[in-house]
Amino acid sequence: MPLPRSLSVTSLSGLDDWTEEFDLGDAVLFEIAWEVANKVGGIYTVIQTKARLTSEEWGENYFLVGPYMENSVRTQVELIEPTNPALKRTIDNMNSSGCKLYFGRWLIEGSPYVVLIDVGFTAWSLDRWKSELWENCGIGVPWFDREANDAVLFGFLTAWLLGEYAAQCEEPPHILAHFHEWLAGLGLVLCRQRQLPVATIFTTHATLLGRYLCAGSVDFYNNLHKFNVDKEAGDRQIYHRYCLERAAAHCAHVFTTVSHITAIEAEHLLKRKPDVVTPNGLNVKKFSASHEFQNLHAHSKARIQEFIRGHFYGHLDFNLDKSVFLFIAGRYEFSNKGADVFLEALARLNYLLRVNHSEVTVIAFFIMPARTNNFNIETLKGQAVRKQLWDTAQTVKEKFGKKLYESLLVGQLPDVSKMLDKEDFTMMKRAIFSAQRQCLPPICTHNMLDDSSDPILNCLRRIGLFNSSSDRVKVIFHPEFLSSTSPLLPMDYEEFVRGCHLGVFPSYYEPWGYTPAECTVMGIPSVSTNLSGFGCFMEEHIADPSAYGVYILDRRYRSVDESCSQLTSFLLQFCQQSRRQRIIQRNRTERLSDLLDWRYLGRYYISARHMALAKAFPESYYYEPQDPSSKKGFRYPRPASVPPSPALSRHSSPHHSDDNDDDDERYNEDLEAEKDRLNIRQPHSPQYRDKSGLP
Ligand code: UDP
Ligand code: G6P
Ligand code: GLC
Repeated sequence: MPLPRSLSVTSLSGLDDWTEEFDLGDAVLFEIAWEVANKVGGIYTVIQTKARLTSEEWGENYFLVGPYMENSVRTQVELIEPTNPALKRTIDNMNSSGCKLYFGRWLIEGSPYVVLIDVGFTAWSLDRWKSELWENCGIGVPWFDREANDAVLFGFLTAWLLGEYAAQCEEPPHILAHFHEWLAGLGLVLCRQRQLPVATIFTTHATLLGRYLCAGSVDFYNNLHKFNVDKEAGDRQIYHRYCLERAAAHCAHVFTTVSHITAIEAEHLLKRKPDVVTPNGLNVKKFSASHEFQNLHAHSKARIQEFIRGHFYGHLDFNLDKSVFLFIAGRYEFSNKGADVFLEALARLNYLLRVNHSEVTVIAFFIMPARTNNFNIETLKGQAVRKQLWDTAQTVKEKFGKKLYESLLVGQLPDVSKMLDKEDFTMMKRAIFSAQRQCLPPICTHNMLDDSSDPILNCLRRIGLFNSSSDRVKVIFHPEFLSSTSPLLPMDYEEFVRGCHLGVFPSYYEPWGYTPAECTVMGIPSVSTNLSGFGCFMEEHIADPSAYGVYILDRRYRSVDESCSQLTSFLLQFCQQSRRQRIIQRNRTERLSDLLDWRYLGRYYISARHMALAKAFPESYYYEPQDPSSKKGFRYPRPASVPPSPALSRHSSPHHSDDNDDDDERYNEDLEAEKDRLNIRQPHSPQYRDKSGLP
């Protein structure tokens, strides 16, 4: 397939177009990360979502390189013969020299090629490679650090792959290798040390020291310039990892990171200023009907409600239709991810809702993987009881329906007193008895291995949130990532997010933070912070983020206690919104999606690649640096109508305002969709009002 000479990245909704004339010629791109076809956290999301745009630019000359993980490969990768002859020879040669490499297509958007390396298969070389690393680079890796051992194996194997590929090419090749994060960084260092004809990029998605320092009790952002980095790394026993990371950052032709806040951190802790900031994007789904995402919300919410019915059986003394679903999700880094602040704010919210006699109930989900021994009995039982009640109702309904039908067939109205017999009542009573419960609904869905020392559980014990009847805030801790095959809550993460009302991510350390970005493109409001790459990015581009459902918590200039108060006030405001206000707010949130689309943000990666090629092969490539954010000052304006704050609600209501602005138009579209769904065409039918509670 011929390569496109250049790629034009066009964006939508008023964001600027950007074209960079650059002839890739015969260049080949290898993108190397431990998260290729291996789901760990946000880096997987970067690689997986970016693949489509990168494949469009590089076509057949794009190869992702990652570790071979049998389970992921079985479900995500189609193994095939390498199509590129030089790469085929490379893989064959390595496989006949004691390595195990696989080639395939990763079954994701863009279907990129992947080279997967079984690092364990070559573990016999570990000691030799560690000595080489020590002799050539002065980095000593201790035997007990398994992750670092994997990094050594992966690094030597990727450098071998690139060197072998270069040797197999008939013409002097133009190889571009893009390495992500310290775990993959050693391959880059070795490419430079061996002087391979490879242009290199290193992208860091966090700094090791930053993550470790923030997780302790350090005033990180005010002391960035003061840290004695070697000592801090040594004290935390990560000096060897830190050396690998710092070496990769310094050896790269082009060094990039995901946000400006992490760029500053990298400059201080890794001692190199990134050449390009490459914000993370997503592949935004466009629906043919703009209200479709609202329908998806309603559909997924109904499924979550069903789960809640089971989880709270015997204690369903709150109105599910007036319940608001909040959630936090991500790697279990208690304070870095702001779970501590969220819990404290929930305790305060509980108090405020109680004293204000609010009818709203908040259900807060914590989706953070911890060490467990599978689901607990009480949680599974909840869903079984719910199912039993449902089945009982269905059985009685069927018998009832049959009797009703028979009576109508003979031209008589049914005798209501005979519609249910004794047997039906016995069955229903038995079902009701089995739904009695002596204990409170569980907080945690799983058996935790470290129950007594778990930070979330301990914090809940301290603040006294136990899912009791008087609590207006209920908590469910699901210490495992979600999956559509779960016997408990069979939903994948995307479906779950769509069904919730607000994502809460009050992170203290968050170089980017995909979770709030994913909420935004699904039209779900979220809370992030001015210490997260995403939060800062949105603050820079949106005049009034909270009006769009992007709440940015101040964790930079306020104390922890003040941040908790601010979060409590966001949450309380959110709980006071009417359904109509939530619908309008979701419409606004979803309108920001284009800003987070790779079609817009991909330009920074493209620019970094061109820059690296020109630096490494100046005789073949010329790159005129131009700022990809040419319209840097672009900002989403304040929405035309007032923000959907409860106090101002009536002003923007279609019944009270003459200016039928965009939000109301969208709202009306949504109303139409609702009517279609309910099959109601009369605009003010009481049926409709009953169902939705709308004016
Ligand atoms: N995620 C997931 N399943 C879950 C919860 C989270 O796949 O049940 C994903 C989520 O979609 C996101 C990633 O985990 O892409 C977390 O990335 P983020 O950048 O927010 O944080 P990281 O874990 O990389 O620090
Ligand atoms: C979407 C659906 C509506 C539904 C609403 C519920 O907008 O299209 O049919 O009424 O969600 O919103 P809520 O914020 O109460 O979950
Ligand atoms: C890291 C960061 C996270 C970021 C992700 C993808 O895991 O912790 O904030 O979103 O990488 O860049």
